[in-house]
Amino acid sequence: MLDGKKVLLIVSGGIAAYKSPDLVRRLRKQGAAVRCVMTESAKQFVTPLALGAVSEDKVYDNLFSLTDEHEMGHIQLSRDADVLLVAPATANIMAKMAHGEADNLATTVLLATDKPVLAAPAMNVRMWEHQATQANIATLTARGIAMIGPDEGDMACGEYGMGRMVEPEDIVIALQRFFGSAQPLAGKHALVTSGPTYEPIDPVRYIANRSSGKQGHAIAEALAGLGATTTLVSGPTQLPDPAGVNVVNVESAAQMLAACTAALPADIAVCAAAVCDWRADDQASEKLKKSPGDTPPPLQLTENPDILATLSAAGETRPDLVIGFAAETENVIDNAKAKLARKRCDWIIANDVSPETGTFAGDTNTVHLITQQGSEDWPAMSKTRVGAQLAQRIADTLVPEKEAADGAK
Ligand code: C5P
Repeated sequence: MLDGKKVLLIVSGGIAAYKSPDLVRRLRKQGAAVRCVMTESAKQFVTPLALGAVSEDKVYDNLFSLTDEHEMGHIQLSRDADVLLVAPATANIMAKMAHGEADNLATTVLLATDKPVLAAPAMNVRMWEHQATQANIATLTARGIAMIGPDEGDMACGEYGMGRMVEPEDIVIALQRFFGSAQPLAGKHALVTSGPTYEPIDPVRYIANRSSGKQGHAIAEALAGLGATTTLVSGPTQLPDPAGVNVVNVESAAQMLAACTAALPADIAVCAAAVCDWRADDQASEKLKKSPGDTPPPLQLTENPDILATLSAAGETRPDLVIGFAAETENVIDNAKAKLARKRCDWIIANDVSPETGTFAGDTNTVHLITQQGSEDWPAMSKTRVGAQLAQRIADTLVPEKEAADGAK
């Protein structure tokens, strides 16, 4: 999908630079030509020799090299690409970009370019959260620089939080979306549910579950990336709204069902939300009081509506393709096949969510695609990648090849 695209990869000096050769390799595998520019500090983490070997091109690092300036020149370097990708983008290089500094080859190229720039931030969580960094990001975003990530997770420094560079495979997806030539789902409406639901007991307490919403959000973003008009009905999550998606925020299962029904008609429905199976039978209008010696109040539960089953049985407004999830901790495939039949949906994405898999709050997922025809095992991959692969599969199924090709023109 990146055939013939020229990427100028600017590598700045963060620990995530050790992933740059992998990024170059993956971009080239998609057909892109990659030329690298490095800062001095990037060379502490990855060598010019390594980047030169994987890019099969000269690596540029010196603003004052007589030969480089004679042969290529920093202005030409900045104009000779289709896109500039800063990965990793440290807090330092983004501060320099925001202030228009040009104190080395990388920053000079970034100031001299008239080409689109994408940046994949990578830094410690405190540096990411610092007001200075956030102000610089706001400045750069307002100037049209597209941010890829960052992700949340374990950091090289031992801390945990926002600031990890998005994995190379997901940076490749972001670039593919950026070039977005293929929009096979243009004209289609996709409805996606995501996140947990909160079921109130009284005005302060609720029943919920551990869903992060990462998988559902990634699917919505991927469907929008393929051109679908996408409605994401989301329970409460910590995630930013995915780019290019209409987000409807809800709390309870009843609200989620109402929002989904209101969003119909749709061509595609993907129910990735972890909807609470039960809600409190009787929601107290005042906070339940606790007095010493009292027996705990009884909690009567009643079953919630099944959104996936309702959409699958929506008669004339039934989406052409209804996809559900099956989060299982045992007999994953068999239970998922039974669920496909019970809910009358078209496909089920089955995943093992036993605690040892780390699927729930994690960034990766190992899934199986169950259709009427059988089941397919997908290798472990990022939730972004699962979203991209599922969206592509949906497009391949719903849109005949010729139409997809016409849409790409
Ligand atoms: O029955 P179970 O909760 O295991 O089914 C999971 C699938 O059904 C998921 O796709 C989930 O989004 C959907 N679901 C729903 N409404 C419910 C319960 C589950 O849409 N009340």
